[in-house]
Amino acid sequence: MNIAIVYDSSTGTTAKAAEAMGKTMEAQGHRCYVQSITEANMADVAEADLICVGSWVKGLLFIRQHPTEGTMRFVERLGALSGKKAIVFCTYKTAVGSALRQMSNALEGKGAKVVGQFKYRGPEPNNKFASFAASLT
Ligand SMILES: Cc1cc2nc3c(=O)[nH]c(=O)nc-3n(C[C@H](O)[C@H](O)[C@H](O)COP(=O)(O)O)c2cc1C
Repeated sequence: MNIAIVYDSSTGTTAKAAEAMGKTMEAQGHRCYVQSITEANMADVAEADLICVGSWVKGLLFIRQHPTEGTMRFVERLGALSGKKAIVFCTYKTAVGSALRQMSNALEGKGAKVVGQFKYRGPEPNNKFASFAASLT
């Protein structure tokens, strides 16, 4: 499977999580393209069989959480995603609120089917992600 992982990272945590996710997927035999939202090539992302979008959580620590504006703009700029599978992930410190749901809704608004949502309190993907990666065919 061709997998595109795009992320927005301010201080490197989400970038590290994205790289680690890519390595896990590659270990399962998939081809992975990992890029920040500013570097990503839209055509490469749109061609992937699975699109993974990651953001750090922004908010007032316990309330009003959301993905970054850059992440949401990136999703808006993607063309139609009918029939594409997608996952969303975020890194956070205290609470994610509705950040993952906002990202999922934006992708589903483009026609994608969101098949996974993952949150990491730091740069390490968790066991839930490892199980997901192992189940991908
Ligand atoms: C302005 C600002 C607002 C934040 N708001 C939240 C928040 O509401 N909830 C939370 O859990 N973490 C919050 N964080 C923490 C970051 O989401 C977390 O440290 C994240 O892993 C940073 O990712 P990055 O290193 O890829 O930029 C905030 C960080 C900043 C700088």
